[in-house]
Amino acid sequence: VMTAPLYAEIDLNRLPRHVAIIMDGNGRWAKQHKVKVALGHRTGTETLREIIRSSSDIGIEALSLYAFSTENWARPTAEVEALMQLILDFFASEIDELDEKNVRITILGDKDALPPRQRDVLREAERRTLENTGLRLNIAINYGGRAEITNAVNAFIRENPGKKITEQDIACRLYTAGQPDPDLIIRTGGEMRLSNFMMWQSAYSEYYSTPVLWPDFGEADLQEAIAAYQLRTRKFGGTVKK
Ligand code: IPE
Ligand code: IPE
Ligand code: MG
Repeated sequence: VMTAPLYAEIDLNRLPRHVAIIMDGNGRWAKQHKVKVALGHRTGTETLREIIRSSSDIGIEALSLYAFSTENWARPTAEVEALMQLILDFFASEIDELDEKNVRITILGDKDALPPRQRDVLREAERRTLENTGLRLNIAINYGGRAEITNAVNAFIRENPGKKITEQDIACRLYTAGQPDPDLIIRTGGEMRLSNFMMWQSAYSEYYSTPVLWPDFGEADLQEAIAAYQLRTRKFGGTVKK
């Protein structure tokens, strides 16, 4: 049952199965509002709640959110600490409702390299929601697309020394194993780059960039992106019959 209001011309029977979002622009939002960058990130988590709820309501199968990249460790210590704190706060306040809504959480990225509290909270969120059958919510934390592929190849070599590797051998060892590739990748904040997000999975994704900064992004913007996606012609290298 559709419970979300419709803001854009979207066909609910032709939704992207998997939507991925590069949540960018918190820093610029903070600057615009003359507040500390940490408040920009905190406000961004409000958007996160709205977009997860809206995706689940509208009937999207999988939602992947890029929250922290392997390169983001290069930011000032205070900012990294604020982001690490937000991970704890977000899961503490949301996990009950997400579980109740039948959301299955998967973390994309290397949890073992995170501080122990964050690592444990993320592991517990995955464990608790493992059997849920609703929205598949992937949150990319300490995630890098190149590291993901490299790890997959190394795992294969360990398990199959001397054997030739196939595309399937790689795909089934990625953090997204078993899930469809993203149909639509949205980037907020206006940049036109992937920034090491889903390097493998995005081979044929439709890409959508909006200047709206992540803390300002909302349900209507998500629907607009889906409407734009539905106007695209996907060809996957082939020809489209007219
Ligand atoms: C995205 O916002 C959030 C993270 C990368 C953690 P930014 O902090 O990159 O925002 P801008 O790009 O500086 O505006
Ligand atoms: C991409 O944003 C990473 C996340 C949204 C988590 P960045 O702000 O880190 O990307 P660049 O530095 O602009 O490429
Ligand atoms: Mg940025």
